Amino acid sequence: MTIAPVAGAEVALRNVSVGYPGHRVFEELTLNIPGGVFTGIIGGNGSGKSTLLKTIAGLLKPSEGEILVGGASPEEARAYLGYMPQASNVDWRFPITVRELVAMGRYQFSWKQRLGRLIRTRDDQIAVDRALAMMDVQDLHDRQIHELSGGQRKRALIARALARQPRILLLDEPSAALDAVSDDQLFDVLCDLTDLGTSVIMTTHDLSTVLEHYAEVICVNASEGGIIAQGDPSLVLTEDVLRRTYGRELAIVSRGDVHGEPSADDDHHTLRLGDELQLHMEDHEHQEGHRHGSPRSP
Ligand SMILES: Nc1ncnc2c1ncn2[C@@H]1O[C@H](COP(=O)(O)OP(=O)(O)O)[C@@H](O)[C@H]1O
Ligand SMILES: [Mg+2]
Repeated sequence: MTIAPVAGAEVALRNVSVGYPGHRVFEELTLNIPGGVFTGIIGGNGSGKSTLLKTIAGLLKPSEGEILVGGASPEEARAYLGYMPQASNVDWRFPITVRELVAMGRYQFSWKQRLGRLIRTRDDQIAVDRALAMMDVQDLHDRQIHELSGGQRKRALIARALARQPRILLLDEPSAALDAVSDDQLFDVLCDLTDLGTSVIMTTHDLSTVLEHYAEVICVNASEGGIIAQGDPSLVLTEDVLRRTYGRELAIVSRGDVHGEPSADDDHHTLRLGDELQLHMEDHEHQEGHRHGSPRSP
């Protein structure tokens, strides 16, 4: 089966049903994601964000429907697709260096398969060096991966995705476990990539960044029918859309001029969208490294 490419769409899903054995997450999902820009995927915990990225990456096979990634099937697209999973399959006790881990991005997602072929060509070496430098882990290149801190592991995994020099880059919660400074650095790197025509599609919990920098946002809530809304974040992220996207996780939304520092206690975090809209998120499991409680000042 083939579907007609949609003008300007880098990723197209048509009537896709996909999920896990005994648990269908999306039913008849139709979606186009534009090329060459930043697209953010937002939604509550368990809303289907990772499932959507895995489907685009070709790691989950839809039971029905069709997918085009850069005009090809997800399998064919692997050569120009970089993917960083939320939960990595890396065994951090494995005795390899950071450089070897990043070099695996030149090959398959299944990282144990290609150990014997690491760094074979000059192109590979150049791409690996560039990826290490982009994520600022070049000084760690000959360290064993078990020596890395949580944030350094994350950088190495993003570098592994970048090593492929992908035309389409899929990142599943890259900001988790990164501090605010590295998060800004990551953002600069990704902006440079989109300037060069790369499509960056990433899941995120940082709505203020989405509003500020993203060309496109996709609001996902699988239990409410899949895609709640999509488009320019400043137009799409209305109170109604956010309520339907986050459901019970979005405890309170308040409007109006907000003075003083947003409050954060143990159960709630405040997200500020411009001066207009304040969101109070109930905190579930997404705490690691997130800035729910300390959004950037405008
Ligand atoms: N490996 C899996 N097997 C079965 N169900 C899963 C698996 N991974 C995720 N799910 C379920 O699929 C739904 C969507 O999960 P996921 O895409 O991981 O959400 P998100 O990334 O938005 O938190 C959830 O109900 C989750 O429990
Ligand atoms: Mg996820």
